[in-house]
Amino acid sequence: MSHIISVVNQKGGVGKTTTAINLSAYLAHFGNSVLLVDIDPQANATSGVGIDHRTIPKSIYHVLLGHLPLKEVMINCDIKTHKLIPASPSLAGANIELISDNQREFKLYNILRQVKNDFDFIIVDCPPSLDLLTINGIVAADKILIPVQAEYYALEGLGQLLETINLVKENLRPDLEILGAVITMYDKRNLLSKQVLDELYKYFPAKIFRSVIPRNIRLTESPSHGKAILHYDNSSKGAKSYERLAKEIIDYLSLPSLSG
Ligand SMILES: Nc1ncnc2c1ncn2[C@@H]1O[C@H](COP(=O)(O)OP(=O)(O)OP(=O)(O)O)[C@@H](O)[C@H]1O
Ligand SMILES: [Mg+2]
Repeated sequence: MSHIISVVNQKGGVGKTTTAINLSAYLAHFGNSVLLVDIDPQANATSGVGIDHRTIPKSIYHVLLGHLPLKEVMINCDIKTHKLIPASPSLAGANIELISDNQREFKLYNILRQVKNDFDFIIVDCPPSLDLLTINGIVAADKILIPVQAEYYALEGLGQLLETINLVKENLRPDLEILGAVITMYDKRNLLSKQVLDELYKYFPAKIFRSVIPRNIRLTESPSHGKAILHYDNSSKGAKSYERLAKEIIDYLSLPSLSG
């Protein structure tokens, strides 16, 4: 059984990329074959696993435009079961270039279906918008994971996001599901965070992962070293929280975890 999980929130800087990188690294660590797909023109997931987009000739952009097959842009990450489809800044143009394509919402869906059975998990890191790239990320997914930052403004825009996901479900992908919300950058000393947490439980009853990601400096540092937290400081609180999240997701999806 293979799962395509897109990490989505149109709000910027909430921990989408940090979650996509570290969740996929731990899923691979537990013996799953994992493909991380970067569809954000910022290419943060690409650089976060140590790939400089300036040194790679081709990216998901060329695949979305039909110029290259997916396998030609696939790159190996630290573990051999962990692979990356890189993004590049040129991807920003795809929003316009695909506009007259009558299959424009299904570009990524069609591309990922060709390799779906080669992987246990495909994790898609989406940009901070609800543009055509993100719609492609939502349409391509079986399940949506929503990182929510534990801060006062976190709930802003969540209604619009859930509405967009529901529109895709009703009109394009009836089997699409929300996997759940994961709380990121949580600081238990901050009373405001607790308030947001209580409010969020009302928003997503039974759909919030128990593994809460704390604010942790090691998580901030690891992308500049081009490493997932697992390969940078696997004993840090940030690492342990993403390890727990990966296990929780594996358990939730009833997948056998091979080493955990
Ligand atoms: N739990 C955490 N603790 C400390 N820093 C974090 C944590 N999660 C993310 N960060 C840092 O916060 C910033 C934003 O995180 P990230 O890039 O993952 O968010 P994003 O939602 O992908 O952003 P964007 O919307 O721009 O794509 C980054 O500098 C990242 O290193
Ligand atoms: Mg990001």
